[in-house]
Amino acid sequence: MNNFEFCNPVKVVFGKGTIARLSALIPSGSKVCLLYGKGSIKKNGIYAQVQEALKDYHVTEFSGIEANPHYETCMQAVEQVRNEKADFLLAVGGGSVMDATKFIAAALYFDGEPWDILDKGATIKRAMPLGVVLTLAATGSETNERAVISHVSEGKKLGFAHPLVFPCFAVLDPEVTYSLPVGQVANGVVDSFVHVIEQYLTYPVNAKVQDAFAESLMRIICEEGRKVLKDPFNYDIRANLMWAATNALNGWIGQGVPQDWSSHRMGYPLTVLFGLAHAETLAVILPGVMQYMQKEKQEKILRLGAVVFGIAEGSTGERVEQTIAAVESFFREMGLKTRLHEYGIQASDLDDLTAPIDQLGWTLSEKGHINTQVAREILSLRL
Ligand code: NZQ
Ligand code: ZN
Repeated sequence: MNNFEFCNPVKVVFGKGTIARLSALIPSGSKVCLLYGKGSIKKNGIYAQVQEALKDYHVTEFSGIEANPHYETCMQAVEQVRNEKADFLLAVGGGSVMDATKFIAAALYFDGEPWDILDKGATIKRAMPLGVVLTLAATGSETNERAVISHVSEGKKLGFAHPLVFPCFAVLDPEVTYSLPVGQVANGVVDSFVHVIEQYLTYPVNAKVQDAFAESLMRIICEEGRKVLKDPFNYDIRANLMWAATNALNGWIGQGVPQDWSSHRMGYPLTVLFGLAHAETLAVILPGVMQYMQKEKQEKILRLGAVVFGIAEGSTGERVEQTIAAVESFFREMGLKTRLHEYGIQASDLDDLTAPIDQLGWTLSEKGHINTQVAREILSLRL
């Protein structure tokens, strides 16, 4: 196991009716800016619950944060929050609203052009405190210090991470996910599964706790993911999926182990150029990464196959192939497409999709060997 230092300071409040706990979580007297997306929270009753819980606070709001949140929208929020002199940010939504709120929290005090936080890795010295009410189990953003933002006019999607943007608290009420369209539920299952994979499917460093924890999460995500499609209003399924997604990217399973994240990074241009949802990019790319890196990842692929998909028979090569096929087939069972041509993407698009990797100076995977040329080979396996 590699050395590590780890602190996750996010207070989690989990379960039915927990939105009512907001008044115990936000310091009294705070001027709260409530941030949310395109309005689903008004249709499903979450907005009313939040308003009720915040009735003793001075509350302003900023709405309209889009999926794959735009830098331009975030900067409008920065201006509004400054003008209204809010001092606490409350994100109510999925990964997009939470990520946007983290970026806004940092941009509010940033001296200079805030896009530099993403584009140049500029240092954050201060951020406004923020809390989150999660409405979609997927990204893990509720208990981590990461955010991913898109700059529309520059055609870039980039991420940053900083301890100052950890939420102070995360309210996780699984019942609020009942109103999600089935496609969003499936996207959340696939995204959280791939978060575990990115931290697990590398090479062994004898990290027994992390490996066994990751394997449990993947088994649970597969089992409950299959069930939720048939039984969407089952509280226990929703609760287990939500808690699994949070644990998939709250930092625990990634400590002291090599990490990959190439499927995630290679997916950003698919969203920017072709509009695929985040999880849709992963379902297409991950089987290609597994195929291309099967030698480097062999030991872990075999273990994944045995423990998560019950693949125990056959030669090493056969078990590797069966495991890659099982992962792809799980994504298809969840209703996601797994090939580029299914989105109308062709070989002639691959240059545009992979050029950003060299332009940004990225060297991806746990081996750091995926550049534009290698990414092109991987994506060409997925046409
Ligand atoms: O706009 P609203 O009205 O909120 O509707 C949203 C949106 O249309 C809707 N929705 C959310 N909760 C709902 C609901 N509809 C009905 N009922 C509910 N309870 O779902 C749609 C998608 O929401 P979004 O927040 O975009 O989805 P997700 O949670 O998958 O977040 C995706 C974003 O997170 C980033 C992705 O890149 C992407 O930008 N990620 C963030 C990570 C992080 N911070 O750690 C890691 C991830 O790997 C990922 O990159
Ligand atoms: Zn993800």
